[in-house]
Amino acid sequence: MELRTITPFIGMEVGGIDLREPVGDADFALIRHALNTHALLLFRGQTLTEADHVGFSRRFGPLLTHVLKQFLKPDFPEVYVLSNVVDGGKPIGNHKEGWNWHSDLSYKAEPCLGSLLYALETPPEGADTLFASMHAAYEALDGETQKRIRSLKGVHSYATYYGKAFADRTPLSDAQREAVPDISHPLVRTHPETGRLSLYVGQDVVRGIEGMAEEGDALLAELNAHAIDPRFTYRHVWQPGDLLIWDNRSTMHCATPYDDEKYRRVMHRTTVAGDRPF
Ligand SMILES: [Fe+2]
Repeated sequence: MELRTITPFIGMEVGGIDLREPVGDADFALIRHALNTHALLLFRGQTLTEADHVGFSRRFGPLLTHVLKQFLKPDFPEVYVLSNVVDGGKPIGNHKEGWNWHSDLSYKAEPCLGSLLYALETPPEGADTLFASMHAAYEALDGETQKRIRSLKGVHSYATYYGKAFADRTPLSDAQREAVPDISHPLVRTHPETGRLSLYVGQDVVRGIEGMAEEGDALLAELNAHAIDPRFTYRHVWQPGDLLIWDNRSTMHCATPYDDEKYRRVMHRTTVAGDRPF
């Protein structure tokens, strides 16, 4: 197994490993450490079944299932499908998911530790994923701002996100809404394994700062804009066979468009359970 840095602030490529085979404990410890320190790991050229994908994902912890049950694989409900493909009149996955900067499942009381996204079919152009280091973003803030936001909390809301992202769709049912009530999380998050601080924000999904009105909205907009400064971001250009895992505790990411009339895209995602941000 070989590890190669992708950018100085985020990302490592892990080569010389076939994830169809069980990963030994020593190699897995290196992978886990690299995830904590570099936040994004890329494994190229993989040929994974759903069972392989789920099996490797479980090494990082228990897996979660997504609230949109219609896009889960029946035999592997841990696998959430992202796709524009329609099969027999039915979409096989969620399309236009994540076209805003966010950290996965931040609207949950215990957001996920990480996500593993595996590319089965990718368009030859477009559909890149952008990633941003929230450690780098926090550390680049001036000391005064760091101090000011340390005790503040953002209100994360799946209903707000869904209303903005999927305005053309059937509104969430009462049961779906109740499954994901609004939740407050600190704006500055401590990585539970390294202790390093990061900025914890998000577009659309964070609807305000707890206890602050317009002033909070302005601050939030400022922090969201800062968080995605190109200084902290990496653009991933997908190839079929890529498996990416990212640490949701220290990154945000954002999908980008592609010609969905012309090209097919099929991606499988698993999500590793995490703990309450502090
Ligand atoms: Fe996402």
